[in-house]
Amino acid sequence: MAATGTRVEFRDVNKVFRSGKKGADVVALDNVNLTVEPGEILGVIGYSGAGKSTLVRMINGLDTPTSGQILLDGTDIVGMPAKQLREVRRNIGMIFQQFNLFSSLNAAGNVEYPLKMTEMSSADRKARVAELLDFVGLAERGTNYPEQLSGGQKQRVGIARALATSPSLLLADEATSALDPETTQEVLALLKEVNERTGITIVVITHEMDVIRAIADKVAVMENGRVVEHGSVYEVFSNPQTQVAQRFVSTSLRNTPSPAEERELMHRDGRLFTVDLTAESGFFSAAAKLQERGVDLDVVHGSVTTLQDHSFGKMTVRLTGNQEAIEEFYSTLRRTTTIDEITGGRGSRSTSTGEAN
Ligand SMILES: Nc1ncnc2c1ncn2[C@@H]1O[C@H](COP(=O)(O)OP(=O)(O)OP(=O)(O)O)[C@@H](O)[C@H]1O
Ligand SMILES: [Mg+2]
Repeated sequence: MAATGTRVEFRDVNKVFRSGKKGADVVALDNVNLTVEPGEILGVIGYSGAGKSTLVRMINGLDTPTSGQILLDGTDIVGMPAKQLREVRRNIGMIFQQFNLFSSLNAAGNVEYPLKMTEMSSADRKARVAELLDFVGLAERGTNYPEQLSGGQKQRVGIARALATSPSLLLADEATSALDPETTQEVLALLKEVNERTGITIVVITHEMDVIRAIADKVAVMENGRVVEHGSVYEVFSNPQTQVAQRFVSTSLRNTPSPAEERELMHRDGRLFTVDLTAESGFFSAAAKLQERGVDLDVVHGSVTTLQDHSFGKMTVRLTGNQEAIEEFYSTLRRTTTIDEITGGRGSRSTSTGEAN
């Protein structure tokens, strides 16, 4: 398999779909600047219409930007002659939501298909197909046709086919969206293994934060054609900056109460806070002093996660008792961490951050 991965760079990439006379133009990519390092797994997340598929179609040259450059290992593919582009594409594997297998070919035939366009001998092709089917756990299934395979098995065939020519870049557009959660995790684990074994660069498009969490090193969050956030999975999960990133993160971590839970929590007395639990938040030392000051602390919601060797989370607590001590606790903590006070309904939430004030 390939020894290293491709570096992918977007430089000031714009894509505008011009409509007919009256309709408005669609800006599908709006000044995208993004680098995927060799061997990295980048997860691209965004709501429907954010521009994710347009982004990947630029990488394999299926579509061209209105302006800007797309560099693969330093070579701009924009405007490249068709013949040269075909060579570039041979080095890129692609897997899809609907698998896109040939129904008239069995599993082995599907995996062999891209090899038929190479100089490889028939015997070498057969050996390579056997090796690939074995790698994806389908050694016994080579003679099965797609209709005889489950969704997860079909995607394994898709992965084997994508890897047949030992590409150094793999693009996956919603490749697990048609699969159940368990099969999704199996397929993602397989992709991760491919990445670890071969050093192949992988770009995974998804609308599920759990997919990013399971596989990616870095994440790019897209909204209205723009990359609004880009960082390590830990950075984005522990400290999302934009509202769209916050929404995606909360669907995966579920570490803050839902609106329904908040309403439930408001029925009882006391001050409700959600606090960040990071190594530096100072929450536990501040909380340790509460009981002797006549304050009761109840944990009512929360979770802690470990990602990329960092543990972080959120906890929602209810404080009752000595009001003065509660105020002190609040002002001590807000110097070191983010506190989100739940005071009833989304509109009356107050957030204070620890920036020296
Ligand atoms: N060929 C096209 N002609 C006109 N508009 C297009 C074309 N392809 C995409 N668009 C528009 O560009 C925008 C981005 O589309 P894109 O398919 O990249 O979104 P996406 O993030 O992949 O969405 P989804 O999650 O639904 O797959 C959308 O507004 C879409 O309607
Ligand atoms: Mg799409």
